Amino acid sequence: MADKIKDALKKLDYEVDDLVVTESNRPDLGEFQYNGAMALAKTYHKNPVEIANMLKDILVKDSFFKDVNVAGPGFLNLSISDEALINYLNNPDFSYAKKNKLIFLDYGGANVAKSLHVGHLRSANIGEALKRLCNYLGYETISDTHLGDWGRPLGLVLLELKKRNPSWLYFKEDYEGEYPKVEITSALLEEIYPYASTKAKEDEEYLKEAQLMTKKLQNGEKGIYALWQEIMEISKKDIKKIYDRLNTHYDLYKGESDAEKYVPEMLDYLDKQNIVEESEGAKVIPVSLPNDKLEIPPMLLIKSDGGILYSTTELATIYERIKINNPSEIWYIVDKRQELHFTQVFRAAYKSKIASPSQKLVFAGFGTMNGSDGKPFKTRDGGVMRLTDLLESVKKESLKRLNENILENRDSIAEDIAISTVKYADLLPNRETDYNFDLEKFCSLDGKTGPYILYSTIRMKSLLAKASENNYKWQEMKMIKGSFTRELILLLTNFDNVLNNSFQAKSLNDITDYLYRLATSFNRFYTENIILKENNEDLRESWLYLVSIVYKVNKILLDILAINVPERM
Ligand code: ARG
Repeated sequence: MADKIKDALKKLDYEVDDLVVTESNRPDLGEFQYNGAMALAKTYHKNPVEIANMLKDILVKDSFFKDVNVAGPGFLNLSISDEALINYLNNPDFSYAKKNKLIFLDYGGANVAKSLHVGHLRSANIGEALKRLCNYLGYETISDTHLGDWGRPLGLVLLELKKRNPSWLYFKEDYEGEYPKVEITSALLEEIYPYASTKAKEDEEYLKEAQLMTKKLQNGEKGIYALWQEIMEISKKDIKKIYDRLNTHYDLYKGESDAEKYVPEMLDYLDKQNIVEESEGAKVIPVSLPNDKLEIPPMLLIKSDGGILYSTTELATIYERIKINNPSEIWYIVDKRQELHFTQVFRAAYKSKIASPSQKLVFAGFGTMNGSDGKPFKTRDGGVMRLTDLLESVKKESLKRLNENILENRDSIAEDIAISTVKYADLLPNRETDYNFDLEKFCSLDGKTGPYILYSTIRMKSLLAKASENNYKWQEMKMIKGSFTRELILLLTNFDNVLNNSFQAKSLNDITDYLYRLATSFNRFYTENIILKENNEDLRESWLYLVSIVYKVNKILLDILAINVPERM
């Protein structure tokens, strides 16, 4: 439509580059609207209504349009002809050409030896969906969890293990042999970290010992490092289990510890760049800029005791990623409260020329999921809610609501529904918006919910299955009948816009919203027409064909969101 308007404008000797046709906000006047006549009139010192009318005179002759009219100060209202819609639907192209661009995505961010909490949920959901969206649009991607597997928390866990098991050979400094297997479970790790963390806050001596332990780990002391590896193995297995449940998969399971190996090399490089300064015994990279509204403090590179920090491994990770993969862009899907940390590190990366100006480092921060009271999510006893517990509570509710006529695979169906519930609710608000968790609302079969979308998708699929059983065929759209048929096809024409908007905004809310509109429109269409009983074969075929396209689009979008559709529900 935009091309046709552009051509018409050219004929009238008007030049435009970017031209937008939008869905109409006055559906009584037309399906789409073009509002550019007003701006053109200003540039060319003409009357906008006149421009719009001249455009109209050209466009009405095109059989592509069913109606073209001018309203108000120069709005052009456009409606598409049946013929054009049928043509569009019979030549559907939902695929995208490969693009020669590598996007690196950093999301998930689980911490070793600590259980995943609800704060990690959004990162996994948004990140996985963005990765799939990038792939769908033809971009190459590499995904990495960037495990929190180094530094202070590990020092605490290692120290507490030593306190409880002083005789373990791991702690014997001059020991040379193999280390016998020791009994560590993930339940134990989950218990140990909060215990040690609280203790370090109350007991200064303990804190010092923990810092020493962290140092030993960072220095690669043999026994400590071996025990750390042991902890890594156990913890990673657990982390992967949860990510599997969330349909979240990574090319790389690297972490802060992998970047640590690049720290010496990076420090050498930074020295040559002459940008590191001393400050109270520590080494820092100043990153403030003259136009900053708020003072941006320098990035801490090395502490005064020689230790490294979250920001050090972060910068080293950029160094590593660029050295190994050299991506065009790196996207960080991380809680928006970490924005300052990323501002500092990104500035340091550009200032040091670790990243070239053309390499985009993007902070895609997300808002918090709060409890139903609008405050950070807590368990009943005031602790942080574990992600597994949250998923289990949603699964329990899904199972309770599951149709009792379904006797087989109840557990796996409830699992699919629960994951769709959590993901859909999580991806529905704009990425940066906080939202409140509401079990009742999210699990409901009505409204903007995962279960509603799944239910509608299954309905499409079973309609097509029944049609197949009747040996009905659907090769193409032959005619449009019924107002909801038209509405549904018009909605389908938005597919490309929706994907591109989501990509630009790095937020999935356009897709979740579109899925809701598609499902609602489909359900109206489904209620309006008794498809399988229709005697006019051409009409029945057209309807079935339309259903097959809607189903296909639904599936594409649900795949992007990493939502599985169960067989029944
Ligand atoms: N492990 C961190 C946390 O739990 C998140 C890591 C985010 N990614 C990054 N490159 N810093 O807060």
